[in-house]
Amino acid sequence: MPSPLTDAKGRKPMGSVVPFRKHEPGTQPNYLYPAYVATRRRAPSQPLISLPHTLSEVTGPVFGHSDVRPNDNDLTTQHPAEPLGQRIIVSGQALDGNGHPVSNSLIEIWQANAAGRYAHAKDGHPAPLDPNFTGTGRTVTDAEGRYRFVTIKPGAYPWRNHDNAWRPAHIHFSLFGPAFVTRLVTQMYFPGDPLFKYDPIFQSISDEKARQRVVSQFDLETTKPEWALGYRFDIILRGREATPFEE
Ligand SMILES: [Fe+2]
Repeated sequence: MPSPLTDAKGRKPMGSVVPFRKHEPGTQPNYLYPAYVATRRRAPSQPLISLPHTLSEVTGPVFGHSDVRPNDNDLTTQHPAEPLGQRIIVSGQALDGNGHPVSNSLIEIWQANAAGRYAHAKDGHPAPLDPNFTGTGRTVTDAEGRYRFVTIKPGAYPWRNHDNAWRPAHIHFSLFGPAFVTRLVTQMYFPGDPLFKYDPIFQSISDEKARQRVVSQFDLETTKPEWALGYRFDIILRGREATPFEE
């Protein structure tokens, strides 16, 4: 006699999939945060409909190392000379909502150069481009969910959200968890930035503790003597302590 959780062939029916827990209120950016002007146009005007999680939501891509080269996590060695700016190491651990390491997971980052300019055709900020800095990197987490990037500290840059609007220095992160719905796209900030209180993107995470989860910590252990400052940024996918996603 088959178990009530399996079909006649012993397979688990789709309905037995354990869904992900919902985010706690206030721990994710508000869809509508009027001070962040673009959200006025793109925030949903109707209540969201929750779709049940089936196998296609709780499973997802598996990444090997073949397409990621060992040096793809070093943004300072992609050109003939080193980029200008302060060399930094950013490392941490990716964990799931139950505190288990998320191993073999693709992490991609992109950022502005030390002068606060992206190497992108649409960035019109009149700050210099750096011929030795593209600003993109990627890596795959190890068996313990750990990752490490070498890069330079990005500069703050202006944007046209409101008068005299400046983004705090940040690095964009994309992380593919074990399933498509656990993909995280977020921004990592640097501790003590005076621009936090003026930045509606940072402030759109209303829960103070959740907001601190997108701020990296200076870490003397990651810091390499006479070479680079180290910052630690742990990333938690889903669950109560989840890193806030981008809207
Ligand atoms: Fe940015």
